[in-house]
Amino acid sequence: MTKEHDYDAVRAEIKKILPQPGYDAGSSGPVLVRLAWHCSGTYDKTTNTGGSNGATMRYAIEANDPANAGLEHAREFLEPVKSKFPWISYGDLWTLAGVVALEEMGGPRVEWRGGRLDHTDDSNVPPNGRLPDASQGCPHLRDVFYRMNFSDQEIVALSGAHTLGQCHPDRSGFDGPWVRNPIRFSNTYFKLLLAETWTPKINVAGNLQFRDDDDEIMMLPTDMALLDDPKFVKWVKIYAEDKERFFKDFAGVFGKLIELGVQREEGGNVVKRGMDSGDKSVWVEGAERKTEVRDLDKEGPKAKL
Ligand code: HEM
Repeated sequence: MTKEHDYDAVRAEIKKILPQPGYDAGSSGPVLVRLAWHCSGTYDKTTNTGGSNGATMRYAIEANDPANAGLEHAREFLEPVKSKFPWISYGDLWTLAGVVALEEMGGPRVEWRGGRLDHTDDSNVPPNGRLPDASQGCPHLRDVFYRMNFSDQEIVALSGAHTLGQCHPDRSGFDGPWVRNPIRFSNTYFKLLLAETWTPKINVAGNLQFRDDDDEIMMLPTDMALLDDPKFVKWVKIYAEDKERFFKDFAGVFGKLIELGVQREEGGNVVKRGMDSGDKSVWVEGAERKTEVRDLDKEGPKAKL
């Protein structure tokens, strides 16, 4: 039996599930980073809804968001860790796994704080459609990331995560890795974005993406969009030239991403209000909800069954 809050023990166990021979490039690392990002990237600053607190991707509506296709692999890789440490919330496990994977793949150490609570039902699941659509351009990137409270610089820094992993035609409709070693974190994505000649190509799934001269690596339309906008391209150039600056900024912005919507009391404990279906206290006016809020206390004890 393990001690509660022994996050170092959880980290050690996450490291053990990173090597996955036979899966993609042999590592679960990239898809774990993507899980941490997608469970956090539903955040909406106006309504203060979404984000990693609550682990709403456990529920069908969010798990089946087409943007989350493939993340079942990440969640499954982590199940043995959850079984070993049943006290850890899924929100904590998914974000911690992203942070551990990133560091193990040579990335910076990201500050991580525990205490997220899992929602007890699906009444707080954010609507589908909050994650970015790779076929679009700069206005869409700004819509989506400003909604999460990120700046232009932070959008570029976050996009540097595409130095990891690959696209899968059966998941996103895009195909291939961005760099030649997709399980090593670096600033290569920015270097390649600037240095290669990128040619439009209709991929096997019938979608437009961009290929290098050897057709080995790729870029998404949203990646290429970073070159079109003066405010974005400025940071692409800075991060291509200065790896340390990229690592420092990425650590900060990834740490911010996984804390979006996690409301903490002084001292760091996560605010418990609003974690049950009947509690609307964290929902501000205008919040989109899948189901009607029921006042379970007024409906009496039977309603809670
Ligand atoms: C800028 C907007 C973004 C768009 C449009 C986008 C889109 C995509 C798409 C289409 C894939 C391929 C999924 C698949 O077929 O398996 C992907 C993979 C990935 N994305 Fe993004 N992404 C964005 C931002 C981010 C951010 C902010 C992060 C993390 C900070 C991230 C991390 C990853 C990783 C690590 C993978 C590889 C997953 C794997 O190998 O299974 N992406 N992204």
